[in-house]
Amino acid sequence: MLLDCGRSLAKGWRYHRALRDPRTVWFTTSSSSRANSSEVTRDPMTGELTALPDIEPSRLQIRKVTSPRPVPSSSNLVFGHTFTDHMLTIPWSAVRGWDTPQIVPYGPLSLDPSCTVLHYAQTLFEGMKAYRDLNGKVTLFRPDMNMKRMQTSAKRIALPTFNGDALLELIKSLVRLDKHWIPQEPGHSLYIRPTLIGTQKALGVAPPNEALLFVICSPVGPYYPQGFKPVALYGTTEYIRAAPGGTGGYKLGANYAPGVVPQKEAGRKGYVQNLWLHGPEHHLTEVGTMNMFVVFKAENGLVEIVTPPLDGMILPGVTRDSVITLAKEHIFGKHKLQGLPENLVLNERPVTMTEVKAAAAQGTLVELFGTGTAAVISPVDKIGYLGEDIVIPTGPDGMGPISRVIWKELVGRQTGAIPSDWSVVVAEE
Ligand SMILES: Cc1ncc(COP(=O)(O)O)c(C=O)c1O
Repeated sequence: MLLDCGRSLAKGWRYHRALRDPRTVWFTTSSSSRANSSEVTRDPMTGELTALPDIEPSRLQIRKVTSPRPVPSSSNLVFGHTFTDHMLTIPWSAVRGWDTPQIVPYGPLSLDPSCTVLHYAQTLFEGMKAYRDLNGKVTLFRPDMNMKRMQTSAKRIALPTFNGDALLELIKSLVRLDKHWIPQEPGHSLYIRPTLIGTQKALGVAPPNEALLFVICSPVGPYYPQGFKPVALYGTTEYIRAAPGGTGGYKLGANYAPGVVPQKEAGRKGYVQNLWLHGPEHHLTEVGTMNMFVVFKAENGLVEIVTPPLDGMILPGVTRDSVITLAKEHIFGKHKLQGLPENLVLNERPVTMTEVKAAAAQGTLVELFGTGTAAVISPVDKIGYLGEDIVIPTGPDGMGPISRVIWKELVGRQTGAIPSDWSVVVAEE
């Protein structure tokens, strides 16, 4: 039975065949955390701007599972293999705009074999987590950042944008319904995967006139169940992940499949992940599917944290931004982190393998680590580069002196041990 929690469409909204209509203009109000945009057209009679419906949480319909599945034991969880009872779906079309959001039992989607996602990779996704925090509350970590990045990705591949706050409200409804799937154990969480695909039933590379946004959730355990284990990277010169003017700065499905063969090859050579290098000077860009930071002892006794700038080849990671923000707040005295040096500087600047190799040889390389939602921080102990191994220092616990402090603060904020407005509570009814 469909429980209609919604109301009818807002009065005065008109439907138009907008997408391929030359009168269509894009109207965006997404400069702040309120990622919010609508496709608008002009009324042919009055010339007034009219909008297609945006995502509307009050129209949500919920169809619950009749036989809920047993929640598996947390010790058996394999990342991304188990899914909760329900999923959220919101169809979009160029004629109707964003249609009725529905929470339905988790299950297969029905797609026409001609639909554009299957041929031209018209797909983007997000990765975020819900936590059962130390106070028993269900929380999300900086979800506004994921909503904003989803808009940016959608614009890049001509998929429809939407009100990010509205989607977040619906994600909260989904998490609330399946909250008993959030593992309680320390380091565990519910991984949330919002996805948007082009579903137009036609061959031809063009903006699709139909799309589907869906959200699925997967209970996950800690990335390092036995404590931190530093990874060995293969400094990859045979393949690139991203290029100037390409799509590396967006979270598109198309960016990931081409990384599988290079990762397999790195594995065969005895390394865990690819260190993606770019250009003749072998600039460091990302680590596997993580952003990266390197720490140097600089001149004048300074300790310099470096991460490559967002030049279009680097994904603007939520964890990357969090690490930068925490380091800057320490540096500028807004929020001092005990254990970080006083003489710290942070630079978003290009960094080359020549510089890393020289620093390792001179003893001025402090540490190198990856950052991402899945692992939070992933320390590195070795880079295979042009036939030799560069050794990266790590402490006895596997971490370095800067990442250890930042990791503690980040995880503290995620688990509610450290109060922070980055942690957004999902109100439970
Ligand atoms: C290519 C790539 N870089 C970086 C990241 C880290 O981003 P975030 O910190 O938002 O998880 C991810 C993971 O989402 C990624 O896929």
